[in-house]
Amino acid sequence: MDTSTLRKVIYDTDPGVDDAMALYFALAHPCIDVVGITTTFGNVTVEQAASNALYLTAIANRNIPVTQGVKTPWFRAPGTPPDFIHGGDGLGNLPSRVATSNQLDPRTSAQFIVDMARANPGEITLAAVGPLGNLATALKLEPLLPSLLQEVIIMGGSVMEPGNVSPVAEANIWNDPHAADLVFTAGWKLTMVGLDVTHRVVTELSLFKKIAEHHRHIATDTLHHAVAFYSTFYSGLHKHIAQTPGCFAHDLLAFIYLVNPELFTLENGRIRVATEGLAQGQTMMNRRDYIDYPQAGWGQGQPLTQVCMQVDSAGCIALFENTLMGSWLEQ
Ligand code: BDR
Ligand code: CA
Repeated sequence: MDTSTLRKVIYDTDPGVDDAMALYFALAHPCIDVVGITTTFGNVTVEQAASNALYLTAIANRNIPVTQGVKTPWFRAPGTPPDFIHGGDGLGNLPSRVATSNQLDPRTSAQFIVDMARANPGEITLAAVGPLGNLATALKLEPLLPSLLQEVIIMGGSVMEPGNVSPVAEANIWNDPHAADLVFTAGWKLTMVGLDVTHRVVTELSLFKKIAEHHRHIATDTLHHAVAFYSTFYSGLHKHIAQTPGCFAHDLLAFIYLVNPELFTLENGRIRVATEGLAQGQTMMNRRDYIDYPQAGWGQGQPLTQVCMQVDSAGCIALFENTLMGSWLEQ
């Protein structure tokens, strides 16, 4: 990407270790301008997510508007945050936190998204890497939102790869399937970065150690600590990760797609979400658009989503390393 093309991004997130990785990539990348951070329940409660977003930005010497968003799913019963993956605090159980002074923006996340989109029509990209309740609520507040945003990129879902909360469902979609189905049928320029690609990119723990030793800064030390906890989970789960401790960098890939889409192979399709039952949270893509199915809900009237199906894993890791090793903390 041409570095003169600065992309304004609202980051909708539930930090979360891979959310933190993605945030620091976005802050470090010269083509990304994070104009706001909207938070949701997911990896942690929404209160903890907002507190983590404030903390992560403050220790990286940034003061970016942070809002608190939805606390629970639209319809399904709320679950319990996965403290065994991200730690009880979402950042690998940090032993302590330094005092910081960044304050929450008092608006709800949905209102913030709507305000920013109206004030900057066609200029804002929304990168959403948690459950999708804030986007769905913003759509209800402003039905014209799809034409006011430049693009929406979500980390979530899967087409061919098995799920991570059931054999067919990915966590962000499963956490609020009704909100997700609304997002997939809203009609914005939408790209799905799901498990089909995020399960192909393993970031090694040693890389985060190298980044921390290079900067000797609280932000990269915090990230290294959080990734060490998160890697223990993934190393215990997958044999190919256990050999060299590391983790999936899920949310990071949403930002990598934003700046280097050529690292991905895309397929267009109409996506719907199973909202109930055993397949709850499954993202189903119609890959045979020429068939006029008798089942309602799959017509040509449904909008298309660009789905990332393959990825250049080495290219993503090299981009992450080069970006994080830059001088982004020295401002
Ligand atoms: C997604 O779920 C969360 O645990 C991660 O932060 C990521 O957004 C992966 O399924
Ligand atoms: Ca996330």
